Amino acid sequence: MYTLEMQKSIEAVEATRQARLNADLKRMTADEKENLLKKFHPDYKEEGFSILKIGANKGDKVPTELADLLQANSRLKGVKINLSKVDYDTDVLIIGGGGAGASAAIEANEGGAKVTIVTKLRMGDANTMMAEGGIQAADKANDSPAIHYLDALGGGHYANTPELLRKLVMEGPAAVKWLNELGVMFDKAPDGTMITTHGGGTSRKRMHAAKDYSGAEIMRVLRDEVINRGIEIIDFTAAIELIKDTEGKIAGAVLMNMETNQILIARAKTVVIATGGAGRLHYQGFPTSNHYGATADGLILGYRAGVPLLYADTLQYHPTGAAFPSQIFGALVTEKVRSLGAQLVNRDGVAFMNPLETRDVSAASIIRECKERNNGIETQEGLGVWLDTPMIELLHGEGTIEKRIPGMLRMFMKYGIDIRKVPILVYPTLHYQNGGLKINANGMTCVQNLFVAGEAVGGIHGRNRLMGNSLLDIIVFGRNAGQQASKACKDVKLKTLTLQHVKDFENEMKNAGIKSNKVSPLLLPTYTHRNK
Ligand code: FUM
Repeated sequence: MYTLEMQKSIEAVEATRQARLNADLKRMTADEKENLLKKFHPDYKEEGFSILKIGANKGDKVPTELADLLQANSRLKGVKINLSKVDYDTDVLIIGGGGAGASAAIEANEGGAKVTIVTKLRMGDANTMMAEGGIQAADKANDSPAIHYLDALGGGHYANTPELLRKLVMEGPAAVKWLNELGVMFDKAPDGTMITTHGGGTSRKRMHAAKDYSGAEIMRVLRDEVINRGIEIIDFTAAIELIKDTEGKIAGAVLMNMETNQILIARAKTVVIATGGAGRLHYQGFPTSNHYGATADGLILGYRAGVPLLYADTLQYHPTGAAFPSQIFGALVTEKVRSLGAQLVNRDGVAFMNPLETRDVSAASIIRECKERNNGIETQEGLGVWLDTPMIELLHGEGTIEKRIPGMLRMFMKYGIDIRKVPILVYPTLHYQNGGLKINANGMTCVQNLFVAGEAVGGIHGRNRLMGNSLLDIIVFGRNAGQQASKACKDVKLKTLTLQHVKDFENEMKNAGIKSNKVSPLLLPTYTHRNK
C-alpha cells in the first residue's frame, strides 16, 4: 500500500526504533511552547479569522467560516410562521441526540419532566460516537480532582472558567461510576479495577476506556437508557430557530423535518442545546475527525437568541489524524496510540517531540516538522509524519494492539496496513471546538431557561482541551442540564410565543450593512466549495 518513497522512509524509522525505545524525550519549556504555537498553530493564523460585526460578540474574531454562518440569514426569512399552532408540547426540549443530549434527557426524565429529544439525524449520530481514547476521572488513590483541575487548567492556558472546570473535575468520579453502573463496559483488570492510562498533559493515569471504542460504547448505553425510559425522540428533525415568550424566556424551537422540509413548532418550558461541534465547517481547509452533522448549529441558534460566545476563536486540531490512505484522510487516530508508547517520527526516523505534549503543542510541532523543517512524508493529500505503532508491542508485549486499540488495527488493516508491523502516517485534523456558548455553573445561559451542554459550551476547557475531558464534560454537564431543566420547568408559566429576536437580528444585520447569501444553521455540510 505504501509508496516506494514511504517504504524507504520506513527503513529509516526501523533503523532508529531500538534506540528510541528507551529514549527519554525532552518536554518543551513554556517559552518554547509559546513560540511554537504562535508560529505554527492554526489558531494564530490571522487570515483564518473574521471580526463579527453584530451580536453579543461584536468586535471579536471567530473563524471566517463560522462568522459567515453567525451573520447569515435565518431559514425563516420571509416565511410566515404560525406560533399558535403547536405540534409538540413538552417540559424539556433537548436539541441534539449525542452523549450530552442523552445524559440530559435521562436526568430530566428522572426528575419527572416530560422530555422530547429532536435530532436532525438519528439518536446517537454524533461526535460522542466517534470518540475513541477514553474519559478522564480522578478516581485512583494517587490522584484527586484538584490534580485533575491543575492538569486541565495548564492544558487550557489558564483560561478555563473556574466554576465550570471545578464542576467537571469534582463530578468526574461520579460520572464514570454512573456510566459503569448503567452498563458501559470499561477496560478492567482481572480483579475488577478500572485500567487507566495517561493522555497528553495528564500527570496521573486517569483515562478510563472501552478499548478504542470508548465513545461508541458510552453512546450505546446512553441510547439504550433513553429508549428504555420511553423518552420521546423525533429523528431527522432539526431545530432551525429558538422561540422565546414575550417576557424573553425560552419557550421552544421552530423545527424542520429534514426529509419533507415541513416546519413544525415545539413549545417547551425549558430548552437544552446539545448540538455538538463544528468540524464539518473545515476551518482553514483542514480535514476533520468529526461526525457528518458537526456544523455549529447550536452556536447559530444561541447567538441569534442573544447568548455570547466564549473562546470561539480556539479550535482543537487533533495531532494525529490519518494522513494516508486518502480514504480515511482526517479520521481520528486516537491519542491512546501515543499513550501506549508510539512515538512521532519524521521521515529520517528522528523522534522530534515527546508524544505526550498537549494537543495544541503536538499539532503545531507536526506542522513545523512538515512545513518549516521539510521533514514530512508526501501523501496524495499533502504531508504527514510517522506514528511508530510497532513500538507498542515492543514495549507492552505481543497482542497489545489487538487488545487495546482494535479499532485502529481494523481501520488500517482494511487498506493492507498492519499497524503492528509498520508505522502509520498522521497529520493534524480538525477535532473539537474549544469555545462555544457561555453558561453558568447550572448550565443556563443569559436567556432564562435556555441551557447548553457538551461541545456547544465554551469555557470548560479554556483555550485547549485535554484528551478525555470531552467525554467527561458531556456526562457531567449533560446530566446537570437535565437536572436543572427539570427543576426549572416546574415554575414556568409561558406567555405568548414570539420570534421577535430573529427579526431583531435581521435588522441588526441590515443596519450593519451585511448582505449575506447564506442561510444558517447549515444543518448538513456542503462539499462543493472545500479548499484543499
Ligand atoms: O484521541 C482521542 O482518542 C480523542 C479523545 C478526545 O478527544 O477526548
